[in-house]
Amino acid sequence: MRRYEFDAFGLENLKLVQRDVPTPAAGEVVLDVKAMSLNYRDLLVTRGLYNPKLELPAVPLSDGAGSVSAVGEGVTRVKVGDRVMSHFIAGWIDGPFKLDHVASTLGTPGPGLAAEQVALPADAVVPLPTGYSFAQASTLPIAALTAWSALRTVTHVEPGQTVLTLGTGGVSIFALQLAKAMGARVIITSSSDEKLARCRQFGADHTINYRANPKWERQVLEYTGGAGVDVVVETVGPGTLDQSMKSTRAEGTIALPGALTGGEGHVTTRLILMRRLHIAGIMVDCRRAFENMVAFIEQHKIKPVIHQEFPFADLPIAMNLMASGSHFGKIVVNAK
Ligand SMILES: NC(=O)c1ccc[n+]([C@@H]2O[C@H](COP(=O)([O-])OP(=O)(O)OC[C@H]3O[C@@H](n4cnc5c(N)ncnc54)[C@H](OP(=O)(O)O)[C@@H]3O)[C@@H](O)[C@H]2O)c1
Repeated sequence: MRRYEFDAFGLENLKLVQRDVPTPAAGEVVLDVKAMSLNYRDLLVTRGLYNPKLELPAVPLSDGAGSVSAVGEGVTRVKVGDRVMSHFIAGWIDGPFKLDHVASTLGTPGPGLAAEQVALPADAVVPLPTGYSFAQASTLPIAALTAWSALRTVTHVEPGQTVLTLGTGGVSIFALQLAKAMGARVIITSSSDEKLARCRQFGADHTINYRANPKWERQVLEYTGGAGVDVVVETVGPGTLDQSMKSTRAEGTIALPGALTGGEGHVTTRLILMRRLHIAGIMVDCRRAFENMVAFIEQHKIKPVIHQEFPFADLPIAMNLMASGSHFGKIVVNAK
């Protein structure tokens, strides 16, 4: 079987190599990966920015969908032939997040999904939503679940509330789709008017070009009658956090998964206290939340927005597309 490895940091070091088909240890399954999707994290991992001390060679990518081809001793949760998706924080099944859950994340330090076959813990897979293709399902494990975590786990968005989401990448477009299905009003930003026109087709109520309108928080306040939004899905991080806080109503929540502008920066703390804001850190979510999200997706017939699908041999091209930021929604790589 073939898989991608990198033995030095940098997208240029991604190499397709031949390896033995894995055999499942006790408690594991082997997944025949049919499709995988890219996340911004994959760029950080491969470039050495996520964990500069990562042991190399490593296999990238965290998200995949496929069929179970073998099960190890003691596995009863799934059987050969099941169509499943990977669950990113493999060791986080339910209950509160614990720091040691991070050691179980797929796509380093856990197994990477950029492979034709991969052995995963049997607990770290979730059945596909009804009617989903493998390509569609591969988009859900990180991006959709992160948006869900922002809208359903750290907050509970109600009909009529207003959600602000930043940019038109994987997480933000899922946030748009899920928030609309929850009955919320959605404001979304982008650097591109063309992308914003597409957001309106997906139900966005208000759109703001953050490049043409650098003080975009003023526009958000206008759209909310001066009150601010109930929830921000902060996909960008320190570069926009102050503006997000200025866009939020008193006692509103900023759900913060984003690191597009890095992992540290200036924060005007008085905005947090004067508005009694809640800043909620997001680390994707647990498997129980994933299963709940799948039920919601089925009920509301939500289908992911896939910008482009690539063949396996073109994974480096797909990674470079993601790095360019010109995509809208998700990028998928098929295993063939
Ligand atoms: N903590 C977690 O659990 C978690 C989970 C998933 C993702 N994340 C993080 O969330 C972020 C988004 O991930 P993703 O996979 O959705 O990334 P992505 O698909 O690569 O999204 C990139 C998009 O973000 C937008 N963007 C970039 N800079 C921006 C800015 N200054 N203001 C507004 N939008 C900006 C751009 O949209 P336009 O082209 O429309 O301008 C760009 O196309 C990343 O930092 C990722 O690491 C964290």
